[in-house]
Amino acid sequence: MSKGGFEVAPNIERLTPYVPGKPLEELERELGIRNAVKLASNENPVGPSEAALRAATEAGRQGNRYPDGYKLRADLAAYHAVSLQDIVLGNGSNELIDLLFRAFAKPAAHVVYPDPSFVCYRMGAIATNMEASEVRLRDNLSYDVDALLAAVRPNTQLLFLANPNNPTGAYLGKQELSRLLSSLPSNVIAVMDEAYVEFPDAEDYVSSLSLRSLHENMIVLRTFSKAYGLAAFRIGYGVATPRIVNYIERVKAPFNVSSIALEAARAALADQDHVQRYIAHNRSERARVSNELRTFGLTVAPSQGNFVLVDFARSSKDVYDWLLRKGVIIRPMPAPIATWQRITIGLTTENDRMLESVRALLKEMP
Ligand SMILES: Cc1ncc(COP(=O)(O)O)c(C=O)c1O
Repeated sequence: MSKGGFEVAPNIERLTPYVPGKPLEELERELGIRNAVKLASNENPVGPSEAALRAATEAGRQGNRYPDGYKLRADLAAYHAVSLQDIVLGNGSNELIDLLFRAFAKPAAHVVYPDPSFVCYRMGAIATNMEASEVRLRDNLSYDVDALLAAVRPNTQLLFLANPNNPTGAYLGKQELSRLLSSLPSNVIAVMDEAYVEFPDAEDYVSSLSLRSLHENMIVLRTFSKAYGLAAFRIGYGVATPRIVNYIERVKAPFNVSSIALEAARAALADQDHVQRYIAHNRSERARVSNELRTFGLTVAPSQGNFVLVDFARSSKDVYDWLLRKGVIIRPMPAPIATWQRITIGLTTENDRMLESVRALLKEMP
């Protein structure tokens, strides 16, 4: 009998709770400062559209009623020119990742995902006891399509791919992505995680939505947390075949997305000017921040996301702690990239503050 008087399955014992980026208020309280900047969680630094905020307030008036996702699903179906039955909503795209594991894990089934990549793929695999192949990136942190395909086995049920990837910012262009999707055995469900789809400026970047004919058993995950600035509302969605959508709906809790999030998302989707302004800001600041960090002598992985991955060639914990004391929160990386930090692209003033602090750090920590 375990100490707590109950026993937990060994796979659950292997899990550790997800640790989010340190909240700003917590750091400010600890340091007694007021102007800390948080560049740790790939959040939109601009904020939600005013129209989304008004819609959320209005939706709150009906807060006594259970939510109904029909209108947002219809808006998304029209936006993507797909059928209503192809859309499934989640409490963040993270819930859909979870539901995919719950719906499709089965005894002795196998899952493939890249490493390093979004940590929730590993969490889902462990939680549902799936056999997993973690496919290493190339040395330059790009995806290795041949290695991903080589990892697929007869019992492979799911393959996850974040495009662009988190935390590297790397992407698979149209040619390689098409090769991956058309070479995958048809029974493998390809989960194309497009949390950062709005940010690439590479000419050969395409959404997997344009390649649905290459691999029918595919779900494309999108989120309102990043470009749309609604991370706190918790809303994302998947576009897939009605058959895949139906299995997800079997394991989904009823009313999983609040009316407030649904209405905020509808208004945010309609306010494309707001989204485009942030995307343009992110592109120019991503280039400027990357260049500046390179002039400091640091290696910066080419990024197509709203963040950059930077090799400080020093212990990532030391660098993180040092910058924390200066009021700059970034994200230290674990092995196998334990000298790297992921830094979200913030407002210009926030980026300047981070760059100044990094310059000071490099002087003090040779
Ligand atoms: C690649 C990727 N997928 C999914 C998510 C989950 O986003 P959300 O649950 O907020 O939609 C994130 C969040 O950082 C991410 O980086």
